[in-house]
Amino acid sequence: MKIEQRFPAETDREAAIGVFDSGIGGLTVVKALMERLPFEHIHYFGDTARVPYGIKSVQTIQSFSAQIADFLLERRVKMLVVACNTMAAVAGDLIKKRSGVPVLDVIAAGADAAVAATRKRAIGIIGTPTTINSNAYARAIHALDGQVRVYSQACPLFVPLVEEGWLDHPVTRLTAEEYLKPVFVESVDTLVLGCTHYPLLKPLLQDVVGGSMHLIDSALTVAEEAARLLQSNGMENTSRQTPEYRFFVTDIPLRFQALGSRFLGRDLPLVQTVSLPG
Ligand code: DGL
Repeated sequence: MKIEQRFPAETDREAAIGVFDSGIGGLTVVKALMERLPFEHIHYFGDTARVPYGIKSVQTIQSFSAQIADFLLERRVKMLVVACNTMAAVAGDLIKKRSGVPVLDVIAAGADAAVAATRKRAIGIIGTPTTINSNAYARAIHALDGQVRVYSQACPLFVPLVEEGWLDHPVTRLTAEEYLKPVFVESVDTLVLGCTHYPLLKPLLQDVVGGSMHLIDSALTVAEEAARLLQSNGMENTSRQTPEYRFFVTDIPLRFQALGSRFLGRDLPLVQTVSLPG
């Protein structure tokens, strides 16, 4: 049974939601939050100097994740959203232990939505190698329904292809066809897009796997879960003022602005470079 998270008594409902990711891919989650919760302030942290996390060791990801969670908690956010599937997969429990405020993550939200959507009780998961190797999605799904069959596939080439902007490119299509071989796809009716970058490939993936497959976009499902949690605890920001969006990154790489706008679906506002205490 799911334990409902509680907000500490002293929580300021006008405080920001803290969202974090290994880089700028988590802006897909910010976009979904902005649309679902248009009056909430959002503070986003992207570890652009150290991305990608999807091929790093568990120990390294845990230590980086703790640093970022602490940075946002010091800024007094009212809740944390782990936008990065890889971090949620291997550091989700550690972040929850450190945090006095509720922590939502894309894996728990994606697992809920997938179990609700599947009719065949067979779910496919795609993600980075670290996410897939962690088995975190399968564990979260089996905690909800032990009878569901879970098929997982790491798709390491999708992150660079999305960052290259090849969202509808023959190379991306071939790669998707290779990863999602019919034998894998035919056994499932629901496919979880278990990585921040994959929502940008949704049209192409839907085409490759066929229109009847449910695609679970964990950015949308975690935004929905955030709205539900805030509402059920009376913690929504009711001030109705223009929200403040702040973006913190550890580096501003080449093509950063263009890439960020693609993930956010609008111009990326001013971003601030910060360094984390090691
Ligand atoms: N944000 C990561 C995820 O959702 C993808 C990029 C990376 O490997 O750091 O798994």
